[in-house]
Amino acid sequence: MTNAFSLFSALKERIARRDARIATVGLGYVGLPLALTISEAGFPTTGIDLNEKRVAGINAGERTISYFADDRIAKAIAGARFRATSDFAVLGETDIILICVPTPLSPARAPDLTYVIRAAEGIAEWLRPGQLVVLESTVWPGATATVVKPILERKGLRAGEDFYLAFSPEREDPGNHKYDTKSIPKIVGADDARSRELIDMFYSRIVSRTVPVSSLATAEAVKLAENSFRTVNIALVNEMKVAMEAMGVDVWEVVRAAATKPFGYMPFYPGPGIGGDCIPVSPVYLSWRAKDVGSSLPIVDLAQSSNDHAPDLIAGRVAVELSKDGGKPVKGARILILGIAYKKDVEDTRESPALAILNRLEEMGAACDYHDPYFPVMPVTRDHPALAGRRSVELSEVTLAGYDAVLVTTDHTAVDYGLVARSSRLLLDTRNALDGRGVVAGRRYVKI
Ligand SMILES: NC(=O)c1ccc[n+]([C@@H]2O[C@H](COP(=O)([O-])OP(=O)(O)OC[C@H]3O[C@@H](n4cnc5c(N)ncnc54)[C@H](O)[C@@H]3O)[C@@H](O)[C@H]2O)c1
Repeated sequence: MTNAFSLFSALKERIARRDARIATVGLGYVGLPLALTISEAGFPTTGIDLNEKRVAGINAGERTISYFADDRIAKAIAGARFRATSDFAVLGETDIILICVPTPLSPARAPDLTYVIRAAEGIAEWLRPGQLVVLESTVWPGATATVVKPILERKGLRAGEDFYLAFSPEREDPGNHKYDTKSIPKIVGADDARSRELIDMFYSRIVSRTVPVSSLATAEAVKLAENSFRTVNIALVNEMKVAMEAMGVDVWEVVRAAATKPFGYMPFYPGPGIGGDCIPVSPVYLSWRAKDVGSSLPIVDLAQSSNDHAPDLIAGRVAVELSKDGGKPVKGARILILGIAYKKDVEDTRESPALAILNRLEEMGAACDYHDPYFPVMPVTRDHPALAGRRSVELSEVTLAGYDAVLVTTDHTAVDYGLVARSSRLLLDTRNALDGRGVVAGRRYVKI
């Protein structure tokens, strides 16, 4: 029996016994739920994050992610199968390492793999024969093999022989109460048979279903295909919204009715633009890579550009509706932005269109406040750092009546929309949060 084969068999046995030691590198929206799910499946799991404050909060059992059950983290810590650390040395004692670090865009809007490279360098320091390394972060097809693998091989160990390398894209949907890490099927891909077998065997014990694919690049491409599909369809429905409004047709009613077709249609809803670190980012990764290999994705590019302009269109529409309402110019108008998170019921403002709209309206001379139950204080954001420190306004009949317009940008469940409808002079709704319900005489409600 060769040494390589015995290492492979040993890891398989550890996975089968559920005593393989797991580490997730990155404890954010993806890494933390993944680490907890793995520890809940019985594997001893350590989460590594460079953010020491986050690590301390997790080890103290704090509910770091708002949509988690109150005691999920505390229970995992108390059960002694999960802990967090900032020390990469723990990697020396682990069997499977999952990389869940950010993959944003650079200021020039190109893929930025800096975090992945740094994580791979940290892992390379501790890499030993027999370990399985899995990249979960969204990257362009080819990145695991051409960027991560050479870093891991720097000290002479070979992927597929001495250690194992796989890609398994995260499909986490923060705040989704119907599907969680466990119930979302997991794509698993690798370039060699042993790595593929190990990743499939491991995730078969964690999630309800695994979907093996033939290579690292295929697994990477699946994630980008899913998100690019969303990008194109969101752009399409926002375009339809404008055209159908001109036809006197409510696009929301159209989508609801069309969604009753049991095949060939999937509902996407209009909104103020796209946000989060996935939908605005993945199509850029795919398109960038297409150009890199001498191809192109003009439909994806057009959808991306359309989505990028959505906040500007909404800001312009606010100005138009204000001017109709007794001829108030946007310059000098007082506007309340309702919701700054990029989507409902999450405490995440990354790439949030609400902030772009707020910023644009202020450039047009409006005075904006915001309300968001998840953000009592405006956090520092990459695109709008100057907005940091502002405070969320309390919602009351008096405060709401003081604004020339209230703009619903995020349809958080916790907001009292009855109060908003009763008290706002001009209520502009980008999310169909009210669908006309609760609007009283003398108040104007417009879906925009
Ligand atoms: N958030 C989502 O909804 C979602 C869904 C699917 C996929 N993804 C993808 O998953 C990846 C991670 O996204 P996220 O939302 O969890 O990011 P995040 O910003 O919430 O968390 C990333 C964490 O990694 C830590 N980190 C960064 N570099 C590190 C390093 N070298 N070593 C250790 N820790 C490090 C950061 O401190 C942070 O806590 C991205 O590629 C993203 O595109 C995200």
